[in-house]
Amino acid sequence: MYSPAPDRYDNKVFNRCGNSGLKLSAISLGLWHNFGDVTIYDNSRAMALRAFDLGITHFDLANNYGPPSGSAERNWGRILKDDLSAYRDELIISTKAGYTMWPGPYGDWGSRKYLISSLDQSLKRMGLEYVDIFYHHRPDPETPLEETMRALSDIVKSGKALYVGLSNYYNPELAQKAYQLLREMGTPCLIQQVKYNIFDRRVEQEGLLNLQEKEDIGVITFSPLEKGILTNRYLKDIPQDSRLASGSPFLKEQDINNDVLEKVRLLNDMASQRNQTLAQMALAWNLSKSSVCSVLIGTSKVSQVEDCVKATENTSFTEEELKKIEDIVR
Ligand SMILES: NC(=O)c1ccc[n+]([C@@H]2O[C@H](COP(=O)([O-])OP(=O)(O)OC[C@H]3O[C@@H](n4cnc5c(N)ncnc54)[C@H](OP(=O)(O)O)[C@@H]3O)[C@@H](O)[C@H]2O)c1
Repeated sequence: MYSPAPDRYDNKVFNRCGNSGLKLSAISLGLWHNFGDVTIYDNSRAMALRAFDLGITHFDLANNYGPPSGSAERNWGRILKDDLSAYRDELIISTKAGYTMWPGPYGDWGSRKYLISSLDQSLKRMGLEYVDIFYHHRPDPETPLEETMRALSDIVKSGKALYVGLSNYYNPELAQKAYQLLREMGTPCLIQQVKYNIFDRRVEQEGLLNLQEKEDIGVITFSPLEKGILTNRYLKDIPQDSRLASGSPFLKEQDINNDVLEKVRLLNDMASQRNQTLAQMALAWNLSKSSVCSVLIGTSKVSQVEDCVKATENTSFTEEELKKIEDIVR
C-alpha cells in the first residue's frame, strides 16, 4: 500500500496564484501524454506517486487527454482511488473542456451545454465530487463569451469546481473581457494556462503576460520544455522511447532541425555552467518571471520527475545570463 514520503513538503516551493488564496506547487504535473490507455499503467502510477512524494500537489488533466480521449482521467481516477484517496485535500486537480470530445454539436467548443455535460463526465471518470480548477480549454469564436463565462461561474456556484481558469486565451482583449465578466459574476478568474518557454515567446510579444501581471491573474505555463526539445533528450539522436519517436502528432522531426539543435546545445552548455540540467534551467527561466506561479511539465519516466523538481533550487539569473539566452535564441 502506498504511503507518501513524510518529508514531501520540506523545502518545497509553493507560489500564490495571482491575488487568490490558493498556492500551487512551483512544478505541476500534466497528464496530457503518458497517462492514457496506450501507456503502461504502472509507469503512470509511479510518476504520479513520485511527484506527490516530491512536493508536487497540482495535477492537470483535460477531458480529451489520452489517447483515447477520457482515458487519462480514468487512469488518474484509478490512481486516486487506489493510492491517493486519503490525500484528496492535499491535491489540486484540474480538468478542462473546449476541444472535440464526443460527436455532434454538443461535444466541442464553449456552449453551456458542452461545458456542464463535459465536467459531469470528467467527474465520473475520475471518481470525484468536484475538481479544484475547471478551465475553458480554448476560446470559442461562435458562442457568446458571456455564455461560456456564465457556465464557468455557475459550475463554481454548483460546487463542482472550486475555481475557474482560462486556457489558450492569447488575445489580451478577449482575456480582459473574460476576466471582467467572471469578476462581475462573482467568480474571478483564478489562473490562465498559456504556452511559454525559452523558445516560444508569443505571450510576451502579444502583451498577455503584461496584462496578467496588471490584473494579478495567476499564470501557469505549459510545454515549458517545448515538448522535450529544451532538454538533453535530442542532443545525440532521437531516442526510441521519446515523444518524437512515438509518432506524436504534436512533435515532428522538422521541429528539431539543425538550427534548433545548435541553440539547444548552446543552452545546454549554459545550463552546465549553472550546475543545472537543461530541463532544470528551462523551468527555472519560466519560474523567474514574476507572474508565473507554476510550470506545467509532462514526463515519461520517474527520473524526469526527479530531475525537474530540482529546478526550484536555482531560479535566479544574472542580467548577463538572461542576455546570453536572448542572444542564443534570437
Ligand atoms: N492548455 C493546453 O492547451 C495545453 C497544451 C499542451 C499541454 N498542456 C499541459 O501541459 C503539460 C505539459 O505539456 P508537455 O508534455 O508538452 O510539456 P513539456 O514539459 O514541455 O514536455 C514534456 C516532455 O519533455 C521530456 N522531459 C520532461 N522532463 C525531462 C527531463 N527532466 N529530462 C529530459 N527530458 C524531459 C519528456 O519527453 P519524452 O516523452 O520524449 O521522454 C516529456 O514527455 C501537459 O501534460 C498538459 O497538462 C496544456
